[in-house]
Amino acid sequence: MNALEELLSANKKWAGKMVESDPLFFENLVNVQSPDFLWIGCSDSRVPPNQITQTTPGQIFIHRNIANMVVHTDLNLLSVLQYAVEILKVKHIIVCGHYGCGGVKAAMTNHSYGLINKWLRNIKDVYRYHQDEIEMLGTEDEKLNRLIELNVSEQVLNLAKTSIVQKSWVQNNGPHLHGWVYDLHDGVIRPLLHLPPGSKLDHPIFEYDNLED
Ligand code: CO
Repeated sequence: MNALEELLSANKKWAGKMVESDPLFFENLVNVQSPDFLWIGCSDSRVPPNQITQTTPGQIFIHRNIANMVVHTDLNLLSVLQYAVEILKVKHIIVCGHYGCGGVKAAMTNHSYGLINKWLRNIKDVYRYHQDEIEMLGTEDEKLNRLIELNVSEQVLNLAKTSIVQKSWVQNNGPHLHGWVYDLHDGVIRPLLHLPPGSKLDHPIFEYDNLED
């Protein structure tokens, strides 16, 4: 059996097992999804959201990109965010980074990686905002892991700076925003920050004043 056949065969076994434990499992999910969570994570193959949180299909709406970024001009992310907030009305949005993230590591160097430079540029800005704090740390690994944490926090703030989230905070008193970081060494997620609905931003210029419908 080649690698692709193995994937398809594993999928059949899995589907069979799911139906064995709950005959209506798939039928119940066909027409509706009502996940409580939107997960914004890194594309890294070692950080699969459903597996590391022991959740099943239907529980988490997921967007992944390199280094779990929330870029304010990214139509893909913004479309996912709008759908999750306005239609699915998720209760929580989680930005989950991970220690040892290759995207963040690449952004910390001066090396040119071609097209992806444009994406990593957003992380270089996070480094610039927090350079003093990062450079006080001793080793390269410590610096990298601190930038990974700070990057998660910045992306949570970027969510709060969207009119999508601010409007929902005013109208629905939700969602809660969370910043987490996953440790590849032990498989454990560490919560970093929580912004409840209505939280103040790091600068008032980002607060929209005409969101009441
Ligand atoms: Co990564």
